[in-house]
Amino acid sequence: MASSSLNCHNSHSLNGCSNPNSTPTKKPKLSFISDSEIESEFSHHDQIIARINNGSFGSCPQSVISAQQKFQLQFLRQPDNFYFNTLKPSILHSRSIIKSLVNAHSVDEISLVDNATTAAAIVLQNCAWGFDGGIFNKGDVAVMLHYAYGAVKKSVQAYVTRAGGEVIEVQLPFPVGSKEEIVSEFRKALEKGKENGKKRVRLAVIDHVTSMPSVVIPVKELVKICREEGVDQVFVDAAHGIGCVDVDVRDIGADFYTSNLHKWFFCPPSVAFLYCRKRGEEGNMGDLHLHHPVVSHEYGNGLAVESAWIGTRDYSAQLVVPAVLEFINRFEGGIEGIKRRNHEKVVEMGEMLVKAWGTSLGSLPEMCASMIMVGLPACLEISSESDTLKLRTHLRDHFQVEVPIYFRAPIDGEVSSITGYARISHQVYNKDDDYYRFRDAVNQLVSDGITCASLSN
Ligand SMILES: Cc1ncc(COP(=O)(O)O)c(C=O)c1O
Repeated sequence: MASSSLNCHNSHSLNGCSNPNSTPTKKPKLSFISDSEIESEFSHHDQIIARINNGSFGSCPQSVISAQQKFQLQFLRQPDNFYFNTLKPSILHSRSIIKSLVNAHSVDEISLVDNATTAAAIVLQNCAWGFDGGIFNKGDVAVMLHYAYGAVKKSVQAYVTRAGGEVIEVQLPFPVGSKEEIVSEFRKALEKGKENGKKRVRLAVIDHVTSMPSVVIPVKELVKICREEGVDQVFVDAAHGIGCVDVDVRDIGADFYTSNLHKWFFCPPSVAFLYCRKRGEEGNMGDLHLHHPVVSHEYGNGLAVESAWIGTRDYSAQLVVPAVLEFINRFEGGIEGIKRRNHEKVVEMGEMLVKAWGTSLGSLPEMCASMIMVGLPACLEISSESDTLKLRTHLRDHFQVEVPIYFRAPIDGEVSSITGYARISHQVYNKDDDYYRFRDAVNQLVSDGITCASLSN
């Protein structure tokens, strides 16, 4: 992580900072947030639910919600004043904080958009224009992981396939034993894409942390391979990026990198950043003409400015980044400390669960961040996607546990293997009891002889 980011983690003096290129200054922290203060920050959570699924929708503390509401009221009180005097500088301020946190070269490289889905549409639309404009040849290739997020796969289909591109999926093993397995499958897909030099790989879409099953992908290595193999553009989908894994966009080296801020960075929905690497000697965007798919007054003024006004709507989620920074800096080590403790705790709880159930983890601890895949007992007979939904619903309705489940089809010849994995997460509001509740719920199902076939739809 870059030193500028570290300064930012320890900073409490960002509010009111208007210079987008200034580095946040250090200020010593006297006392850290207490357990009861954390409880109070998340007191709006449904207290009867063991919430071990931060991965789907993230979480937002009370102090950030209050900051958001202030912005919403400010707009409703005097919208014209808010529009002319507050909105643009506040979005710029948020972008400048993100720029420092992720070590971007310039604030112009950082756009704020609604979510990772929107960011993917921006990048893939640009790729489609490459085919439509004759820059790419029909049949040129886009490579993505087999475990790419479903909505992003649909976007690849909608933009790239429809424009004449061919899509090649990187087959990934699961359970996964080492990052070399991923690197080797990725190389195979690129070779296939190039077809002995007959075609070109125009775009690689690489997840930083796959959603289901959840695994941390060695993005830096894969981006490097893309460069060596002449892939035109690399887009990293890090919907679970900032606050979950190390994000240093210069070090990772992709052309585009998006991370939601509403998953692991405590923003309310909906906000993500999209980093677009500057090209050319003058650091301009070179031949890149990225546009927001929603066109409004700022069309043609650069993606970051276009994205800052896509018509009348609620922009408050984009404005609370300074409040989030204040929140995370109440924790020892700021966002780095939160990330490290979440990782340690989710591994500890994952290991506790597999020991209790006699199963195994879906990946090595070093290949997970704040989420880990935990094998479920084979006797639950999870044998389809619909079984995973039935089990998840049953755990919610009967045991007040919220956790997503993954179905892994058995490989030919496998008997009594683990076919279901739970994706557990850890965030600052979690307690060990949340995981004990899950452990006991599954033990209860097992001792009652329940299988997925016996659960209602
Ligand atoms: C890898 C990945 N990409 C994209 C998304 C989409 O995120 P959003 O719904 O916030 O756009 C998700 C959501 O979980 C995801 O896990």
